[in-house]
Parts: sequence; structure tokens; C-alpha cells
Amino acid sequence: MSDQLYTTLGVLAALAAGLWAWRRFHYPSFWLVIGFPITAITIRATWRKVALGCGLTKKRQRFWFTTVPGLIASTGVVRVRRKWQRIAVDTKPFMWLPLPTRHGWRVTLHTLEGQIPADYAEVAERLAHSWGVHAVRVSSDKPGRVRLAATVHDPLVKVDELPPSTELLKVTVGRLETGTPWVIDFRTVPHWLNAGATQSGKSNLANALIVGLAPQPVALVGFDLKGGVEFTPYAPRLSALATSRAECGGLLDDLVALMTDRMGVCRMAGARNIWQLPPDMRPVPVVVLVDELAELYLMADKSEKDEIAKTSTALLRVAQLGRAFGIYLFCCGQRIGSDLGPGVTALRAQCSGRICHRVNDPETATMTLGDLDPAALDSARTIAAETPGVAIVAGQDGQWYRARSFYVTEHTAEHAARTYAHLAPPWSEVMTAQPVETPDQQTA
Ligand SMILES: Nc1ncnc2c1ncn2[C@@H]1O[C@H](COP(=O)(O)OP(=O)(O)OP(=O)(O)O)[C@@H](O)[C@H]1O
Ligand SMILES: [Mg+2]
Repeated sequence: MSDQLYTTLGVLAALAAGLWAWRRFHYPSFWLVIGFPITAITIRATWRKVALGCGLTKKRQRFWFTTVPGLIASTGVVRVRRKWQRIAVDTKPFMWLPLPTRHGWRVTLHTLEGQIPADYAEVAERLAHSWGVHAVRVSSDKPGRVRLAATVHDPLVKVDELPPSTELLKVTVGRLETGTPWVIDFRTVPHWLNAGATQSGKSNLANALIVGLAPQPVALVGFDLKGGVEFTPYAPRLSALATSRAECGGLLDDLVALMTDRMGVCRMAGARNIWQLPPDMRPVPVVVLVDELAELYLMADKSEKDEIAKTSTALLRVAQLGRAFGIYLFCCGQRIGSDLGPGVTALRAQCSGRICHRVNDPETATMTLGDLDPAALDSARTIAAETPGVAIVAGQDGQWYRARSFYVTEHTAEHAARTYAHLAPPWSEVMTAQPVETPDQQTA
């Protein structure tokens, strides 16, 4: 008897150890075979209670087999009997079968009358707590349907490196919470705002961009308003670098002149933008990186007013017209608020790519992400200081995502800048609009 007990205990212990090892060493298959089926049954089984608790049910008249008071017996005891009758019942939204995803599961629901996806987005946090998952995101691809996507653990705690993109002006800078690559594609979204508190990961993202763009046939231009401490080490790969306000003014004038020049070339060739020019006439694309944007707009005294107005107008012109003429902006800053002046508000309107790292105040999140879904703003405010590089990203497809950049040290970026220094076209050459060989031409 005791032998049998020991054998059973031994088998159970071996099974538990096997399951532990499976989960530990190959979580994706463990999740698909063991974790997900149990989770799916639990979700379906608890849906009525969860929907009720989150206020997603509606009262509907239904025939229900219920108890009703019957006759009162002579002893005074009320006899009850069961019968079918129409009563108001809490109805839950219809739920399809949950499907597994890389980091959790997703499920489609049919909304009840009078409900909209925002009703579900409002209670997303309640749903996450009810199901014990990291987060629930709500989307809707069809009227009357809502898709809930749950992530069981935060996929951004540790982000593994992805192969670099080989396409021109496209850089894989990190990973989205969905597990897909986070790609900054300047040809789709030409201008970007990158905001966040100090030590939130703004410069890390700029480093990732430099590493990604360094091997490409593009000219990089730096505006380093922190006195040059950020971008000077990358100078070998930069075609131009401005580190003081006066230098910034001069370089912006150059950019405006360059744009006007390219405008003329396009007009003569009957092209709307540089990408419509024949490859041998196409000028080199220019990516402008700005660190600490606010410094461009801050005024110590009245005497600087004219200089700031001039700089602000030039930057705005570059943002408005640069896209067509191959000049792209990537502006980093701790604050990108309207208190810096109307120039910043106008610039913000031109930057459709928005990245909001951890912020200290809700206004910065609102200003960076604009009137995006309020859930995006909440998400931006809850980014922890322990996870630098995590950001809310809007752009590309009009959706917002939580994402994390790869960790790219200054040393890695410096190494890339030195390795590809020979690809940096001298600024004088860029200004004379020398045509370059782009990948299109190589394939032609
Ligand atoms: N994606 C990331 N993964 C891991 N660590 C990161 C990541 N991004 C940034 N860090 C860490 O956070 C630190 C601060 O990052 P970074 O210098 O980019 O912040 P910042 O927003 O530019 O700050 P500041 O406003 O002071 O310039 C880095 O030194 C690095 O150690
Ligand atoms: Mg920085």
C-alpha cells in the first residue's frame, strides 16, 4: 500500500517538475498546449460574472425557470413552486471562442444594444483585474463587434533585438507590445515628436535611429541644444551639427535653402516630390535629429525674441514642406507644450509621428499624444521609471501602441557612426544637391 503511495507521489512530483521545466524553458508551447486551454475555459466560465461586475450587461425580458410563491399552507408556511415565466434577466454580450496570441489571448464580442467600443475601453482595467492579466486592449474592426486583446505578462519588460530593416529610411527601433517590430519609417510618417521626462529613454531612441540610419545612403544632421554633449560623439557620421542657437539658426537657413533648391529641381522635372524624380537626379534624403527642442524656443530676454521667431519659422517651414523634398524631422524634448509659443503648436501639428515616453505631468502626455484615445494618455502616465525606453507610440496606422526601444548604448551608436563615417556626405555636397545613388537605382 505504502509502495503504491510512494509511486503515485513520485509520478506526481515528476509530472510537476516536467511541467515546471516545460513552462520555464519553452513557454510559447507550454502556453499553447496547457496554459491557453485552461485560460479559455476560465474566461468563458466567468464571463457572465465579469460582465456583470464591469457593467457590460443589459436587462432583457426572458422566459426563465424560476421559483414563485405558491399557496400558503394552513401551518403558515409558504410553499414555492417552479415555473417558466418572463422576467428581467442580466444578459451578457455574446462571446466567441478566445484565440491564443503570442503574449496572451484575444476574443471577439457582440456589443449589446446601445453599447459602443468606448464602453468596453472604459472598463478595460477592470477586465484586466478580473481576469488577472497585465492589460486588456479594446479595438473594433466592424460595427457591432469589439475585440478584446489580453496580454498576460508585460511583454516589454525584456525586449530582444530584431534584425535591422534593410529598406531606405526605415529603422526597426524596438518592439511593440503586440510582439511585432516597432518600425520608424520616415517615408510613411516624415516628422516625429519624441517626448518624455529626463532619463525616460529619448536619447536611447535617437541612438537606435542613428545606428539604423548610419549604413543607409542618407545625410544625418544634428541639432544638439545641450551644448553638443549628446551628438558630438556621432559627428563622424553627421553631415552637419549645430550646438548653439546661432549655429542652429544658420543650419536651419541652409535647410530652407536646400528645400527651395530641391523644389526648383522637382518643378523643372515635373515631379511632385523627390521620389518621383529619375533616380540619377534624386538628391540624398536628409534626416534632422533635434535634441531638447524646447531650448530652441526658450527666451532669456526680449533681445532674443526676433532670433527665436526666425528659428521657429524656419523649423516650421522645414516641417511643412520637407516631406516632399526628402527632409525629415525627429524632435526630442522633455516638454513640447504650447507655453513655448505658437511656433511649437504649429510644429506639433506637422509632426504626425508621436512618441511619448514616461512623463511627469499629464499635460505633456496630452500635448504629445494630442486627442488620441484617453486610454493612451492613461497608459503613458503609468509607465514606470524602472522601464526606461517604454513609450506610447502613435503614427503609421493611426492606432496607438505601447512599445519599448532596444537598448542602444552611446558606445554602440558611436561605433556605428565611426564605422559608417565614409557614408556621411559633406554638407557642402548636400547643399549643392548632388544626385546620389539610391537603392531604387541599384535595382533598376
Ligand atoms: N530601451 C531601453 N532599455 C533599457 N534601458 C534603457 C532603454 N532606454 C533607456 N534606457 C536606460 O535609461 C537611461 C536614460 O536613457 P536616455 O539617456 O535615453 O534618457 P533621456 O530621456 O534622453 O534623458 P535626458 O532627458 O536626461 O537626456 C539610459 O542610460 C539607459 O541606461
Ligand atoms: Mg537625452
